Amino acid sequence: MSSTTGIYLLAPEHAGPIQRLAADPRIAATTSIPHPYPEHGARHFVAQQLEDRAAGRAWVFAILDRAELVGVCGVEGLGAGESPELGYWIGAPFWGQGYATFALRMLLEFIFTNLRLDAVGARSLEANPASVRVLEKNGFRRIAVRPNTDPALHAVGEPVVHLRITRAEWQAHRDGPALAQLHPLLRQILDAELAAGNEIVETGGGWPDVDSIFVRLRDQFRTRPDPVPAELTYAELNDPHWWRAEYSSRSPRHVLAC
Ligand SMILES: CC(C)(COP(=O)(O)OP(=O)(O)OC[C@H]1O[C@@H](n2cnc3c(N)ncnc32)[C@H](O)[C@@H]1OP(=O)(O)O)[C@@H](O)C(=O)NCCC(=O)NCCS
Repeated sequence: MSSTTGIYLLAPEHAGPIQRLAADPRIAATTSIPHPYPEHGARHFVAQQLEDRAAGRAWVFAILDRAELVGVCGVEGLGAGESPELGYWIGAPFWGQGYATFALRMLLEFIFTNLRLDAVGARSLEANPASVRVLEKNGFRRIAVRPNTDPALHAVGEPVVHLRITRAEWQAHRDGPALAQLHPLLRQILDAELAAGNEIVETGGGWPDVDSIFVRLRDQFRTRPDPVPAELTYAELNDPHWWRAEYSSRSPRHVLAC
């Protein structure tokens, strides 16, 4: 197992800790996970998920912190005629430490960057405000509250919040804070790049200086301002561990890289 905290493709080695954590009645209370949890429930769950992944119906991940399994998350409903939907739970001993928020952020990156889905939905009992909060913190918006019709989830008739996020909403949520502050000359180059079909893969801030903004593009620069504005520096790093080229402003130091 890797020691880096993140989400990892579900594998048979995860069945043991899933069996222990999913047997907690607090997990069953707000999900369709049964209680009492069957004796080999986790083994069957993992086997089913591996089958679903091979068939292109679902991608499910173990959430690991320093090699310890703290929860499970994934997207299902990827088959023809189905609607993609998130699912997730965190083991009760690990609640309230930001794991679900973090895991969903990584899962959405995978859904929109790797699977290239246009949108994904989620459902949560209204009586589960922590779950709704985690979704809204990741940019989901409420679309409806409807009575539950799924007896496996909970009592029929209980209000269920339906939420959804599109690719454009996800990008705005991920990149909005950085772009709102980006140096206007870098913003001009960025806008020209986006208009030319380039794509943002990463935004961030606080590095290399505390007031820095960082934006990285997927492809090499397609539009080259000529001359480069005097307030900006253009450099070709061609470093396989960092990036190929960058425009940067000096103070504050903002970086547009590709
Ligand atoms: C819901 C669940 C996934 C949350 O996981 P978590 O790792 O504890 O979540 P996080 O720590 O990332 O974030 C929880 C957020 O909800 C907030 N929250 C917790 N209890 C709350 C409550 N009663 N009312 C409102 N907000 C609440 C927290 O303050 C936090 O928000 P903040 O960061 O803005 O302060 C977890 O409790 C769980 O697995 N529950 C059982 C299974 C489940 O319900 N799965 C989801 C099915 S839709």
